[in-house]
Amino acid sequence: MITVSFACDDGVAPYRIGEGLLPEIAGLLAEDLNGRRAFVVTDTNVGPLYGEEIAGRLEAPCLQLPAGEEHKRWRSVERIAQWLLAHDAERGSLLVAVGGGVVTDIAGFAAAVTLRGLPWVAVPTTLLGMVDAALGGKTGIDLDEGKNLVGAFWAPRAIVADPLVLATLDRRQLRAGLAEVVKSAMIAPSSLEHILDSHLAPVAAGDPLQAQELVAGCARVKSEIVGLDARESGPRQALNLGHTLAHGLEAATSYAGFLHGEAVAWGLLAVLRLARDRGLLSTADALAWADRIRFLAPLPALSGLGWDEVAPYIARDKKRERGRVGWVLPRLGGVVLDVAVSGPEAAAVYAQLQSLPADGPFTALF
Ligand code: GLY
Repeated sequence: MITVSFACDDGVAPYRIGEGLLPEIAGLLAEDLNGRRAFVVTDTNVGPLYGEEIAGRLEAPCLQLPAGEEHKRWRSVERIAQWLLAHDAERGSLLVAVGGGVVTDIAGFAAAVTLRGLPWVAVPTTLLGMVDAALGGKTGIDLDEGKNLVGAFWAPRAIVADPLVLATLDRRQLRAGLAEVVKSAMIAPSSLEHILDSHLAPVAAGDPLQAQELVAGCARVKSEIVGLDARESGPRQALNLGHTLAHGLEAATSYAGFLHGEAVAWGLLAVLRLARDRGLLSTADALAWADRIRFLAPLPALSGLGWDEVAPYIARDKKRERGRVGWVLPRLGGVVLDVAVSGPEAAAVYAQLQSLPADGPFTALF
């Protein structure tokens, strides 16, 4: 088992990563439970696989939300809050979210607002959740106006990930999770590039047992960044690399056109091109990253989605300040924050992306 520490309101939240941890969950959470009642929130995909079993081990009631990003809405938060209250939850109760990023985002937010705040634990069951979504306390829901526009910083008091569960994750979801891994490696290449190059291909090919080191590496990078800036006033903005376009793509397709990681993969290609054009990255470096992004393909094609449909959502990005959305761009050895990108420049890069084959290679972008 590998343990990575994350900051939380009560001090330090352990992120325990290891094969075969889920059957041990009651023991792992013994300190967090300490006489508290647990409540498990999962979804209809993960519930029958893991959520019900975890609820059984914690002697907890289990709520299964409908699966999918389109359910990351107010109504799901209300449903969780009402379910908790119907089961006499108290402020000392422990909500345990078992699922992918959608479940941990919604359930974490419900924990933040129910009874003005319950402690919670994240048990991510997708690669994307293990490397990013469940870590660092960003919780929230989507609105018609855009993704994650309502939410709270509410860190889980513990996180438990068992990479064995990735064996039941479909290949598309696994590849989508790798987009956040590539993102993390672009932010912190000195920590992650070597692990990425030895583990990306086997994980993309469906060998989830190779994922543990990637998960731990991404977790260490994220823990360091969140430790510096839990509320995203500075360094944490780096973690939005590739997300400016990604959130626009997801919102413009009503959250049904792309898995989050697939949209991030397009977003990473866009920022590579913008960075190369500014001389922040050499063409050779941009091509090397594009080669890695090929492992995430096929991506949903952009050909049917016009820039005029996407651009309004980018303009409303929640990271907007003083009327301007600052992009995060990669550079040699890391990223640059808050870069101005004009509308016509973003539109031109988008047109280039639209002409790329959705299953790669993406080298024609450079
Ligand atoms: N997913 C980006 C962050 O946690 O800041």
